[in-house]
Amino acid sequence: MVFKLSECRNIFIWGGGHGIGLALLKELILSSPSANFFVSYRNLDKASELIELCSNLKERVEIFKIDPTNESEVLHLSETFRSRGIVVDAFINCIGFLHSEEMQPEKSLRSVSVNQFIESFKVNSVVTAIIAKHFEQFLPRSGPCAFVCLSAKVGSIGDNKMGGWYSYRASKAALNMILQNIAIEFKRKRLSCLVLPIHPGTTKTELSKPFIKNTKYTLHSAEDSARNILEVIDQRSTEESGSFLSWDGELIAW
Ligand SMILES: NC(=O)c1ccc[n+]([C@@H]2O[C@H](COP(=O)([O-])OP(=O)(O)OC[C@H]3O[C@@H](n4cnc5c(N)ncnc54)[C@H](OP(=O)(O)O)[C@@H]3O)[C@@H](O)[C@H]2O)c1
Repeated sequence: MVFKLSECRNIFIWGGGHGIGLALLKELILSSPSANFFVSYRNLDKASELIELCSNLKERVEIFKIDPTNESEVLHLSETFRSRGIVVDAFINCIGFLHSEEMQPEKSLRSVSVNQFIESFKVNSVVTAIIAKHFEQFLPRSGPCAFVCLSAKVGSIGDNKMGGWYSYRASKAALNMILQNIAIEFKRKRLSCLVLPIHPGTTKTELSKPFIKNTKYTLHSAEDSARNILEVIDQRSTEESGSFLSWDGELIAW
């Protein structure tokens, strides 16, 4: 089956408060005029643009303030969805953690810590499994659907020539494994679901801001990345579920 954005009735963007998630929402509002959207965010202080956008589009965009690393909050939201009989044709997870005031990507073993590994794995890997666990039930049982997650090329073991960034790299590699597992399980359950880890490309957002000054990679705006990601997903055969794809549609080595 072929997944088509134009046929989606409901799309859920996890982590839409800012960055690529918010840009995806803005792009989809224009490019998928018949779809409605559910959007999660965690940090109210960073979600003002989302909240304003939603206040003007209440009939199409519903937002939820939720900490996705807290499983009981995810479960609670899924119960609300179940009571409303909602079907979700596509999930796009844009949640990711690279740095905070206390934690910077590790340049060498000297800076690795248990806390940073736990935080990275919690946000970058485990959240996706928890979302799939509680929200798989809302995917359509017939017809194509999608479960997409923003991964990162630095999570590719085959492509790693530079080292460093221990916890981010490892947590994205773990995310890719989780998504491969989800792809296999969904196939076994006869869901026609396109499960994809996608590398969005180096994109100007809060997450990348401290590291892009002298980047050798092409630097994308969040809007460009959103369009690229949607192009990768749209019209793609669900047979390709489980591929690790780049923003330009190229396969990335595991
Ligand atoms: N930007 C790039 O160059 C680049 C490159 C490769 C991959 N990616 C991936 O693309 C995705 C989107 O990132 P972005 O560039 O758009 O960055 P961003 O603007 O910083 O967005 C990060 C998202 O993750 C959420 N988040 C961060 N820490 C969290 C935590 N502890 N608990 C729950 N949610 C948390 C944020 O929500 P709140 O602020 O509401 O907490 C926000 O929605 C991430 O998975 C990232 O790894 C980005």
